[in-house]
Amino acid sequence: MKRTIKEVEELSGKKVLLRADFNVPLDENTNAILDTTRITEELPTIQYLVDAGAKLIVCSHLGRPNGVEEKYSLKPVADELAKHFEGKVTFCPVTIGTEAKKMVRKLKDGEILVLENVRFDEREEANDPKFAKELASLAEFYVNDAFGTAHRKHASTYGVAEILPSAIGFLIEKELSVIENAYTNPKRPFVAVLGGAKVKDKINVIKKLIDVADTVLIGGGMAFTFLAAQGKNIGDSLFAEENLNDAKNILKLAEKKGKKLLLPIDNVALENNKVYKVLEMHEGMEGLDIGPKTVKMFIKEIKKAGQIVWNGPVGKYEDKRFAKGTNKIAKAIAKSKAFSIIGGGDSISAINACGCAEQIDHLSTGGGASLKLMEGSSLPAVDIIGKVKKLKVANSKKKSSAKSKKAPAKTKCKKEKVEE
Ligand code: 3PG
Repeated sequence: MKRTIKEVEELSGKKVLLRADFNVPLDENTNAILDTTRITEELPTIQYLVDAGAKLIVCSHLGRPNGVEEKYSLKPVADELAKHFEGKVTFCPVTIGTEAKKMVRKLKDGEILVLENVRFDEREEANDPKFAKELASLAEFYVNDAFGTAHRKHASTYGVAEILPSAIGFLIEKELSVIENAYTNPKRPFVAVLGGAKVKDKINVIKKLIDVADTVLIGGGMAFTFLAAQGKNIGDSLFAEENLNDAKNILKLAEKKGKKLLLPIDNVALENNKVYKVLEMHEGMEGLDIGPKTVKMFIKEIKKAGQIVWNGPVGKYEDKRFAKGTNKIAKAIAKSKAFSIIGGGDSISAINACGCAEQIDHLSTGGGASLKLMEGSSLPAVDIIGKVKKLKVANSKKKSSAKSKKAPAKTKCKKEKVEE
C-alpha cells in the first residue's frame, strides 16, 4: 500500500496541496450541486489535514471545460465546503500565478484555500511540466485523494507528484483496499453484474472477472454483441462489430474456465415506437432493457451471492420505459446480504433513485478508475505517489518555521521523520 497521510509527520504549518475529485453534477440553470457524495467522501481527509494544522490548498477539476467556462467554476464546491469548515474556507478565482501565491501566503494553519478548476488551463490534461511546476510551487507537500481521476495522468494528478513529496488520502486508501480485497479475498459465490452501452470499455474487466468471479451477468446495450456472437438475431439493437471477436473469445474463455456467464434470455424492445417484451428479436426491433425472465434469472444469482460487484445499467434506464430491469437489479442487490460494491455514475444514480444506497457496502466514487482497478490495471496517479522523497527548498520559506508550529489539535500522527 502507498504511503498515507497518517504516516506523514509534521504537517503543522506546512503548505499542503490536496488533489480531490470534486467533479460533481451541477444544475444547468442554477449551478446548484445535485449530488454532494464526492464532497462528503472527501471530508475525513480534509478534516485530518485541518486538524493537523496544515495550510491546505485544494485543487480539482470539474467537468470537461474548453478553457475558462464560468459554469464549471469550483466556487459552488468552495461554498459547500465552507458549510463544513465554517470561517476556514476561501475561494481563489485562479489556479496558479501571482494571485494564487498571494492568497496561499495569507493562509493560516488549519485554513483551506480552494483553487479554481485546474482544467481551465489546457496544460492540465496535457500533463505539461511547466503547469505542474507552477501548481507544485504553491505547496511543500502533495496529497492525492482524487480516486475518480486516478486513472488520468494529468498535471494535478501526476505531474505535481514528480516534484513534491507525497501521500494518498483516506478516500483513495479506502477505495484501493475495498476493491483490491474484493478481488484477492472474495466472499463466494462472487457474482459480477455488468451493463452499459459500450462493450469496448468492459472487455478487459469481463476477462478479469471470468478469472476471479464465479458468475458474470451481462446486460445493457453491450449484451447484444455477445448475443450476436452466439448467432442470435439481435434486430436493430446496439452492435459493436469491431468487438465481435472479443465477445466470441470471452464466451469461449468462460466455457473453458467453467464459469457461468449469463446473457439476457428475453428483452424489452422498441419497434415502430411501441414497446414489446420479446424472447426473440427481428429486424426493425431494438432491445433496450432486459426482459422479465432475465430479471428473474439474474436475481436468482444475486440472491445466492456472497459478494456482488455491479458496474453499468442493464438497460436504457434514463428512459422510464426501459428502467425496470436496472431498478429491479438495484433493489435486489440492496436487499441481498452479500457484500456489495457498486461503481460507475449510472449504477450509483440507479441505486440512489430507488433510495437504497444505504444498503450498499461500498459505493465507489470512481467510474473509470474503479473499472481500471477491477481489470487489474495500475492507476498512474497512485503509482507515482512517494516517488519524490525530499522537497527542494524552493517551495518552503523556512524549514524551521514549519517545524516549530504546534502539534495537531485533535488527531495524533504516527511519529516518523518528515522528508523535508
Ligand atoms: C469522473 O467523473 O469519472 C472523474 O471525475 C474523471 O472525469 P473525466 O472522465 O472527465 O476525466
